[in-house]
Amino acid sequence: MKFDTSKALQKRSHALIPGGAHTYAKGDDQFPELAPGFLEKGMGCHVWDLDGNEFIEYGLGLRSVTLGHAYEPVVEAAYRQMRMGINFNRPSSIEVECAEMFLSLVEGAEMVKFAKNGSDATTAAVKLARAYTGRDMVAICEDHPFYSVDDWFIGTTVMSAGIPDAVKKLTVKFHYNDLTGLKTLFERYPNQLACVFMEVERLDPPRDDFLKKVRDICHQNGTLLIFDEIITGFRWHLGGAQKYHGIVPDLSTFGKAMGNGYSVSALAGRREIMELGGLHHDKERVFLLSTTFGAETHSLAASIATMNIYKREPVIEHLYCQGERLEKGIEQAVQEHHLEGFFGTVGKPCNLLYYTRDEMNQPSQPLRTLFLQEIIKRGIIAPSLVVSYSHTDEDIDRTLDAINEALFIYRKALDNGVDRYLVGPPVKPAVRKFN
Ligand SMILES: Cc1ncc(COP(=O)(O)O)c(C=O)c1O
Repeated sequence: MKFDTSKALQKRSHALIPGGAHTYAKGDDQFPELAPGFLEKGMGCHVWDLDGNEFIEYGLGLRSVTLGHAYEPVVEAAYRQMRMGINFNRPSSIEVECAEMFLSLVEGAEMVKFAKNGSDATTAAVKLARAYTGRDMVAICEDHPFYSVDDWFIGTTVMSAGIPDAVKKLTVKFHYNDLTGLKTLFERYPNQLACVFMEVERLDPPRDDFLKKVRDICHQNGTLLIFDEIITGFRWHLGGAQKYHGIVPDLSTFGKAMGNGYSVSALAGRREIMELGGLHHDKERVFLLSTTFGAETHSLAASIATMNIYKREPVIEHLYCQGERLEKGIEQAVQEHHLEGFFGTVGKPCNLLYYTRDEMNQPSQPLRTLFLQEIIKRGIIAPSLVVSYSHTDEDIDRTLDAINEALFIYRKALDNGVDRYLVGPPVKPAVRKFN
């Protein structure tokens, strides 16, 4: 497999764009040396790079493309709308239509406001919670890796350059399933926490009624509970992970899976809170999600088409089913190569991830890079194992063959040293302090 055209363009892209890409998670430091630099075309779960190599892709569009690339009914709906104009001086009726459709799926929410990125929605949720409660502090679950590009969250990461200390101090952290830790925060900062902000679930399932207890402790303390469903929304369940676990939050945020890759996100929640951004109250107004491109009509058309498909077809069932097929196949391959504990899958089948550990049982970036290198060589791009509605049995089986072969090399690397097999430097965490 050759990547010559990609390699030449990578030099130009780094001269023009900081990081060579507009999203860190797509950057060159996230992939091995022997990888396609640019993806040009996608159809279903298959993609083609600049050199014409074809791959089966996982985690399409950073998990936003749930149905598959260039999915015909969604493209048609967006295109039909584009031909009618996409942005006017007054709202379009499609904004109401999309809101009705969204709220019919997310049962606990009474109002919704759309935006373009997940971060727009999560940051707006925090602002709204601060305005509603009159408090400044935010408690976030630190086991969930990403909530926003904005200061309230990035200030808590190691890559916090440019963010004032005063802002950083306003966000405090607790661990998932650690109710005692959360209670300690409430004791340490009485009447100061505007919201508790978390994903509903990531790798560990909630234990001992954790989510219900979090909601109760929030409400006893006048704090809002915000669920970030940017990943889990329309993946765990048609009604989100909140429906899956039967807990209604005060506010929740959706993004990725809403529009099959089109730029659309949502902040949804209780009317009394959401209405602070509206016109029908006499309290101080909140500047809630108002941008030039906030409700581009073709993205909303794509979102309505996508949600319609979720409603009509067994999309979510398919995600679970193909994820399970992968999970089982990988378990077998791991046994075959005696790699138990060194390589394996984690997470729900609808959102499957994998870990790579070295001979000391420590998480290993070089081994992750080697695994990526070996599956890419065999036509698979899988920074995660997150499937789409377009992954067929045949795609999964081809993937399992590639993984089986890659794990053969992985075993040899564990025995003989990864440096012998890895070409180029290992990948690095996307959010880090220094290069
Ligand atoms: C859980 C979660 N919340 C929020 C975001 C931010 O979304 P966006 O990148 O669309 O701004 C992400 C992005 O990966 C995410 O995974």
